[in-house]
Amino acid sequence: MQKSVSGFSKLSKSKKIDWIVTHYLSGSTASKDTLLQYINSDKKLQQLHDEFIENTISNYYLPLGIAPNFKINNTIYAIPMAIEESSVVAAASKAAKFWMSRGGFKTKVLSTTKIGQVHFMFHGNSEKLHAFYTAVQPKLLEATRGITKNMDARGGGVLDLVLNDKTTEIKGYYQLHATFETLDAMGANFINSCLEQFAKTFKAEAEKHLDSPIEIVMSILSNYVPNCIVRAEVSCPIEELIDKNIEDPELFAKKFVQAISIAEVEPYRAVTHNKGIMNGIDAVVLATGNDFRAIEAGVHAYAARNGKYSSLTHAKVENGIFTFWTELPLALGTVGGLTNLHPLVKVALDILGKPSAKELMQIVAVAGLAQNFAAIKSLTTTGIQEGHMKMHLMNILNQFEATANEKKTIVDYFKTHTVTHRAVVEAINALRQ
Ligand code: MEV
Repeated sequence: MQKSVSGFSKLSKSKKIDWIVTHYLSGSTASKDTLLQYINSDKKLQQLHDEFIENTISNYYLPLGIAPNFKINNTIYAIPMAIEESSVVAAASKAAKFWMSRGGFKTKVLSTTKIGQVHFMFHGNSEKLHAFYTAVQPKLLEATRGITKNMDARGGGVLDLVLNDKTTEIKGYYQLHATFETLDAMGANFINSCLEQFAKTFKAEAEKHLDSPIEIVMSILSNYVPNCIVRAEVSCPIEELIDKNIEDPELFAKKFVQAISIAEVEPYRAVTHNKGIMNGIDAVVLATGNDFRAIEAGVHAYAARNGKYSSLTHAKVENGIFTFWTELPLALGTVGGLTNLHPLVKVALDILGKPSAKELMQIVAVAGLAQNFAAIKSLTTTGIQEGHMKMHLMNILNQFEATANEKKTIVDYFKTHTVTHRAVVEAINALRQ
């Protein structure tokens, strides 16, 4: 029987497991065993993971893979990727290798600022509010000195603070709109602390100096970061666009550019196109302990910044040169948060040579661009299913609990046969008869 509970968070972990198994899993010992199986026997390590969130009952594993051979601005990287989707790491690796021998990826961070806002209501005289704001702004900045001291010393901090009048959109709605530089930190805590301090000081000062009250609605950073942009690019003469799946480089370049143009104008295609880019981005963001929900929200908002959802990548052929590029908003951190806590994140960052946030922006953008290159290359040549199903073969074999010998025989067989779910099942059955 399924039921509600009070005081769940106060139960011990084993009581929580018992409760969920009894009330939501029909008392299944198999389910309980699975939950227990994924708990790490290293108590300290497990406690660390337990304390990332509340009400932990087990761990949820994702594979951590490596896509090697990424040449980025003449440095070679092996990129760690945490992802469950078969073929993503393989596709990234293939794209990396393809571009390694064609000059590699060129990247540049174009901007690094982030935004936070204090949203408030004020129904008094607007001119008085503006005059009051001008007078109080230095006090607001001064009030956050305790929070910003270290960041200021390293060259970051609050870069700008302005009052925005939004009353044409919502009656009485204004905002304090702040611009931040948070250097190697993603900066969410820093930004939110500054904003809450602005709000507190602003309200207190308003009570002393304004006739009408200001009502703070909320103070929060924005995950929309159109001024935290990184560019990644590959290019080569058309005739170099050749490999075992590309017979005619001219035709390939033409179809590639057409595919990108379609994603630029057609939202149905753009969403899937960008999803493929996010396959690469999220995997590296996750492996390096960054907030992939924030990245997703910001990137998709950026993809719709001109009022219509569109492609995040672009391609052109000019004077016989094929160029493929992206500009992405990526607010990433390499210090603070999970980056200091999760042992695997530390290893992932070490693999990348302990990058700064700016370096990580470039690596992540490249992972996105590479993923998109691989997807468009497959889509416009062999079709996507050939590669997908080859990778999916292992998932099907695992579903059927194939032995190592069975796997080898069947993988060999499908080197020369088309993989479909049915064909694999038939091959397993035939082998087992
Ligand atoms: C699948 O995860 C991603 C693709 O659909 C992306 C695309 O269509 O460009 C292959």
